Amino acid sequence: MELHIAPSILAADFAALGAEIKSVETATDYLHIDIMDGHFVPNLSFGPGVVSAIRPLTNMVFDVHLMISEPLRYAKTFLDAGADILTVHCECHPDPNELDKLVHSYDCKLGISISPDTDLEELRPYLPYADMILVMSVYPGFGGQSFIENSISRIRKVRQMAPEIDLEVDGGIGIDNIAAVTKAGANIIVAGSSVFGAQNRAERIRALQERCVTI
Ligand code: DX5
Ligand code: ZN
Repeated sequence: MELHIAPSILAADFAALGAEIKSVETATDYLHIDIMDGHFVPNLSFGPGVVSAIRPLTNMVFDVHLMISEPLRYAKTFLDAGADILTVHCECHPDPNELDKLVHSYDCKLGISISPDTDLEELRPYLPYADMILVMSVYPGFGGQSFIENSISRIRKVRQMAPEIDLEVDGGIGIDNIAAVTKAGANIIVAGSSVFGAQNRAERIRALQERCVTI
């Protein structure tokens, strides 16, 4: 499994987004973009206009995480804005066939995300269509929260349910716990405050990469 660190721009300086992206692109290839609608989660972030504005600045893989109640209503807008991976939450129960048809009609991957309290069986109907599962290791909505420890066993179980596909983990990950999440089976690691909170982002990303356990 290829390993990727995906810095989350939710923790970046929004007034200097272009420069913030440049500060990470030499060290890694994925960029995590959190979209919040103030309804599925109690917070607002950015919309498709921000995604299309940063699209020409970099060739990084845009890993767009939709924390919105009606993902199918807005999916096309984010695909047109330049998403490379479009992730929707299973708690919104979007139709797997419709997602499959729409997302894969673009040269884009489909991710399915699951929040900390949701039964992992909710993922089952999506597995035949998903290119990636995103296990949330905090309650979605805010950066800088503490990692929920039982996420380790959830990652392990999802890895057993879907041995072949990409498994991303998101929330509260840093130098101290990246070894454990990768050992449990995750291969795409979101890091917001850990990366953008560091003075030297490239150095921090390399430190995270060094601590990954490949399976
Ligand atoms: C939380 C977001 C995360 C967040 C991660 O709702 O989905 O992607 O930006 O930030 P850290 O790494 O600071 O927990
Ligand atoms: Zn996220």
